[in-house]
Amino acid sequence: MFILKLLLLDILTCLCFCGCVARNTLKQGERFNSSDLLVSQNGAVTLNFIKQEYDRDWDGKDFGFYLAINYTVLLNETRGDLWGHPIWLANRQDPIADESGVLIIDETGLKITHNGGNPIQLFALQSSSPSPTTNINLVLHDSGNLVLQHANSNGENITLWQSFDFPTDTFLPGMKLGLSRERNWSLSSWLTPYIPAPGAFTLKWEPVEQRLGSAQRQGFVDEW
Ligand SMILES: *[C@@H]1O[C@H](CO)[C@@H](O)[C@H](O)[C@H]1NC(C)=O
Ligand SMILES: *[C@@H]1O[C@H](CO)[C@@H](O)[C@H](O)[C@H]1NC(C)=O
Ligand SMILES: *[C@@H]1O[C@H](CO)[C@@H](O)[C@H](O)[C@H]1NC(C)=O
Ligand SMILES: *[C@@H]1O[C@H](CO)[C@@H](O)[C@H](O)[C@H]1NC(C)=O
Ligand SMILES: *[C@@H]1O[C@H](CO)[C@@H](O)[C@H](O)[C@H]1NC(C)=O
Repeated sequence: MFILKLLLLDILTCLCFCGCVARNTLKQGERFNSSDLLVSQNGAVTLNFIKQEYDRDWDGKDFGFYLAINYTVLLNETRGDLWGHPIWLANRQDPIADESGVLIIDETGLKITHNGGNPIQLFALQSSSPSPTTNINLVLHDSGNLVLQHANSNGENITLWQSFDFPTDTFLPGMKLGLSRERNWSLSSWLTPYIPAPGAFTLKWEPVEQRLGSAQRQGFVDEW
């Protein structure tokens, strides 16, 4: 545990040396661009725009920019477990071509603006009722959850949107898998080890079979 803590401190010191202020919250109206970094309170995870080099041409390019959450803790430094593989991506199907991506909470909600395309809307404020207009913050938690919350007049934080509801290929404590009236939660593999777009394998609840199933795109191949 001591070693782990030391390691964390080293990483945090390093992050601070980059000239980035270690903060865990994006406030309404603030612009979070490709140079910015959010660090969860105890330093377990970070959020930033990453450049992902592809192992082949995808969407006409060999790289893309993604808003990603990384673990900062290495399970095993020698083997590099988890290192470099983001635990969550905001835009896995919608890479940004350059460093123009800006995450912002504005009057429409939470979105990523960028050059040469429509904004990527992660959450639309009008979809919640009543739709709040002020006291909205985006908080990165040590659990790996990125939460858009509204502080209501009673001082309670109401969750408007959370990254845990939109898992990519990584299941973390506190996440759900399954079906509900509003939402289905499932995991899907990357297209290749280097291309984050959804690949061949998904893990989801099979309502008919009443079990968690791992499926290949066009059919059920395995069961748990
Ligand atoms: C991000 O914003 C900061 C402060 O406004 C600016 O100095 C920096 O150049 C911007 N970075 C990018 C990649 O646009
Ligand atoms: C990390 O992995 C290496 C190589 O597999 C192994 O030799 C080492 O014992 C591991 N360290 C820990 C702390 O598990
Ligand atoms: C997160 O992972 C990407 C590679 O997927 C890497 O380029 C980036 O430096 C990592 N960020 C941090 C803060 O560790
Ligand atoms: C609401 O969230 C903020 C930011 O994470 C936190 O500082 C505050 O303690 C929270 N308030 C309550 C009542 O949980
Ligand atoms: C969730 O999945 C079930 C079964 O595949 C489907 O019938 C339902 O429409 C889905 N619900 C949502 C909100 O996507």
